[in-house]
Amino acid sequence: MPTTPETLARTGGQPLSHVLFSEEQIAERVRQLGEQITRDIPEGEDLLVLGLLKGSFIFLSDLVRQIRRPMEVDFLIVSSYGAGTESSGDVKLLYAREASVTGKHVVLVEDIVDSGTTLNRLLPILEASQPKSLEICALLHKHIAQGLVKEPRWVGFDCPQEFVIGYGLDHSEKYRNLPFVGVIDP
Ligand code: IMP
Ligand code: MG
Repeated sequence: MPTTPETLARTGGQPLSHVLFSEEQIAERVRQLGEQITRDIPEGEDLLVLGLLKGSFIFLSDLVRQIRRPMEVDFLIVSSYGAGTESSGDVKLLYAREASVTGKHVVLVEDIVDSGTTLNRLLPILEASQPKSLEICALLHKHIAQGLVKEPRWVGFDCPQEFVIGYGLDHSEKYRNLPFVGVIDP
């Protein structure tokens, strides 16, 4: 998809290489993911949707409105990238959720699975609290992670091995507000 004056205005004039997934494509896919999760989580059991901040904040807020089940929502803050575009591998858990995980169906919502370091670090910590089930819903999956302890059960889109921004994803804390996912001009 070519970069239009409208997208340039939304990036503050910073040229985008291209739009990968449009606002409309994302909305449709999120609706489907919500339907699948609604089907997959048993009725009448406790559901906790746990968002990984900051990258999942837009995806999560759209997704939970498409899941037709009573639920709790909480967040985890992890940090792994600093200002660069390469994972530092040093994952820090900066905020641990308040909601109890024990005995609940936990859906961990991640913006993108890249190296897998974040998930590999977090999943054992969450498993230790004995959720009834623990599954991952990722908007994007780069399919480059080595030795992922668990594959996401629900994935929005397969993602090329490029650095992507928008719909919650940042580059040095910018571009999170873009309504689409795109690639910045290098
Ligand atoms: P991982 O630990 O390498 O799998 O990456 C985890 C986090 O890095 C993701 O939740 C994102 O916040 C961030 N990240 C990975 N790839 C990208 C990208 O292409 N654009 C923006 N953020 C990314
Ligand atoms: Mg993130």
